[in-house]
Amino acid sequence: MSDTPLFAPTPEHEAIREACRAVCDDKVAPNAAEVDQQAVFPQASYDALRAADFHAPHIPEAYDGVGADALATAIVIEEVARTCASSSLIPAVNKLGTMPLLLAGSEDLRRRYLPPVARGDAMFSYCLSEPEAGSDAAAMKTRAVRHGDTWVLDGAKRWITNAGVSDYYTVFAVTDPDQGARGISAFVVEKTDAGVSFGAPEKKLGIKGSPTCEVYFDGVRLPADRLVGVEGEGFKLALRTLDHTRVTIAAQAVGIAQGALDYATSYVRERRQFGRPVADFQGVQFMLADMATKLEAARQLTYAAAARSERSDADLTFFGAAAKCFASDMAMEVTTDAVQLLGGYGYVQDYPVERMMRDAKITQIYEGTNQIQRVVIARQLLK
Ligand code: CAA
Repeated sequence: MSDTPLFAPTPEHEAIREACRAVCDDKVAPNAAEVDQQAVFPQASYDALRAADFHAPHIPEAYDGVGADALATAIVIEEVARTCASSSLIPAVNKLGTMPLLLAGSEDLRRRYLPPVARGDAMFSYCLSEPEAGSDAAAMKTRAVRHGDTWVLDGAKRWITNAGVSDYYTVFAVTDPDQGARGISAFVVEKTDAGVSFGAPEKKLGIKGSPTCEVYFDGVRLPADRLVGVEGEGFKLALRTLDHTRVTIAAQAVGIAQGALDYATSYVRERRQFGRPVADFQGVQFMLADMATKLEAARQLTYAAAARSERSDADLTFFGAAAKCFASDMAMEVTTDAVQLLGGYGYVQDYPVERMMRDAKITQIYEGTNQIQRVVIARQLLK
């Protein structure tokens, strides 16, 4: 897109929203309940997003992508999440996995790995967390040892979104155990590399259509050119990546909440009790008013953060963490209130709001728990 986005979307951004909403209402929403109930990857939704170029919109035109800026990408993720949170992890995790290459990868790595993602022939995941290294990501144990022109990778990553479905993985590993966070490096690993395997899919509360698995590396031999950026700067690259992609989780949270608010608003108009629509009662109206107000505040903070992401502003770390934290807490509140507004009907699978409430929960946890976001925010204030 031509102009650097400000906080408010331009008419071009709104056109992208409209186009994405049409695809999602038509071809993603109808699969959402089944994808959740069956816990299967939403292939039909992927195909629809891919046909409309919404599966990895952030990839620049130079690498065969459509070059959506950070705000447009956030809007796409928001709109997909409004209908199906699991499907919104397709554009979100493609951005997360490829961001290290976009920030620090060699031109050769970018040319090799970004066009297949842009075309929709491959997806890209991000491997940071380990069984004993979640919030304390720098405590990772996965090890890469250099032997001449080859790195040999051993270890295990946990909670890897879209694992097994993605063809490519950015993997963070210790290359110098004496250097702590300064001894970590990033590598591109392919699903088909010898020694790569996957655990059974986790049985999750929500986002059930997005597989989450362990990924194992058993003597995986990587050519030296798979190193992303500079040796020893992998941990900073991991955090720089998250600065950008926490904005996409904020957008996902906004989308989930919007889906729940839309459903609850139409429901309370139809549902009659005491001889009138329950929307006539002020108690219900006040709930809707609070939900919409918090949602809009989160959306504006998310868009402000997206503008920072697009420009890589110095205060992106603050804005990314603040938007993710605020929007995901909001999404949990709004989806819980949506369930409340539907009463008993909100609690059963015949209606979508219980799914939205379960899906919202993960946004408070992944890409850094909201406790970690508060640590990041406070450190920015006190530094
Ligand atoms: N950008 C660049 N560099 C940064 C940075 C940033 N945002 N934040 C810190 N750094 C630098 C520091 O300056 C420091 O560099 P020096 O060694 O040169 O001084 C280095 O990185 C280490 O920083 P800290 O000492 O602050 O590191 P820490 O060990 O205290 O950890 C943390 C900081 C904020 C707690 C970090 O570990 C963190 O964010 N943890 C949460 C992990 C996380 O978000 N995991 C999500 C997994 S991905 C996922 O969930 C995806 C999915 O499923 C969809």
